[in-house]
Amino acid sequence: MFSFLTILLYFIHAVPIAGSPPIVLWHGMGDSCCNPLSLGSIIKLLKQQLSDPYVLSLRIGSNIVEDTSNGFFMNANHQIDYACKLLNADKNLTQGYHAIGFSQGGQFLRAVAQRCPEPPMLNLISIGGQHQGVFGFPRCPGDNETICNYIRDLLRFGAYESFVQNHLVQAEYWHDPHKETTYRKASVFLADINQERTFNEQYKTNLLKIRNLILVKFLRDTMVTPHESEHFGFYEENDTSKIIPLRESSLYSKDLLGLKTMDEQSRIKFLESDTDHLQFTDQWFIDNIISYLKD
Ligand SMILES: *[C@@H]1O[C@H](CO)[C@@H](O)[C@H](O)[C@H]1NC(C)=O
Ligand SMILES: *[C@@H]1O[C@H](CO)[C@@H](O)[C@H](O)[C@H]1NC(C)=O
Ligand SMILES: *[C@@H]1O[C@H](CO)[C@@H](O)[C@H](O)[C@H]1NC(C)=O
Repeated sequence: MFSFLTILLYFIHAVPIAGSPPIVLWHGMGDSCCNPLSLGSIIKLLKQQLSDPYVLSLRIGSNIVEDTSNGFFMNANHQIDYACKLLNADKNLTQGYHAIGFSQGGQFLRAVAQRCPEPPMLNLISIGGQHQGVFGFPRCPGDNETICNYIRDLLRFGAYESFVQNHLVQAEYWHDPHKETTYRKASVFLADINQERTFNEQYKTNLLKIRNLILVKFLRDTMVTPHESEHFGFYEENDTSKIIPLRESSLYSKDLLGLKTMDEQSRIKFLESDTDHLQFTDQWFIDNIISYLKD
């Protein structure tokens, strides 16, 4: 009896967690938490390739229709708050989780890392996220021209008008290189998380708590302009013919988010896929991403 208990206690201490860490997903624009063709197939792949991870695919709203519509029209800051509450309330995440964001879900999960350090995020994987924003709206997901044209009209009306800023998600990461000053003042989301409005020390402290930042850029991206934004690159001020890569940006040189620190410690992984936006194969995902989710 005594030895049985000793062995049992040994195992409880020596093998604290069976299975891979939990994984949180955030879908992209026009998509939802629970589309079997998109995130559904990712969840299937994760369960196949890893040891029974708990997977939470964030749903922003009380059903799938709301979730999809909120990806266009719910202020990104409110979406981050909403996600933080879900993560906080989920007992399965208390020991930490890996995060995978698809397209705009990439910058949203970075905002989660910067604003809500509990429960702890382990690795942050951004697949086609627009970390320096976009300047252009060439195509809509699912190519729904009704929504697409409505969004274009609003952006044309004035991306930095407060009405548009507060109601259109894509305006909240609209980055006009010809209007940098206006962008910094007016952008309610991107300029804030990129430390361009005021410097928030917590954002840096919190982002530095994650282990690795994995940034995937799509080399033949026809949805994101410029696609270098997926690696934190962006146009030079007033000059869309030139791209300033992350390592030459002031965000990096002033280490405003700890990205320089992380990079010097080899904690930023710059990955590429030679395909269009989010058009990676299962094999590409297995070869490039799965290793960051194992422990
Ligand atoms: C926590 O994870 C377990 C195992 O995957 C699952 O059965 C349970 O439903 C999860 N709890 C919540 C609140 O989702
Ligand atoms: C496009 O979106 C609008 C607004 O949500 C919807 O009414 C319409 O049915 C959609 N069109 C298609 C082709 O899916
Ligand atoms: C960019 O253009 C704006 C408006 O013409 C001007 O105010 C600003 O100084 C320019 N910035 C640079 C770095 O040239």
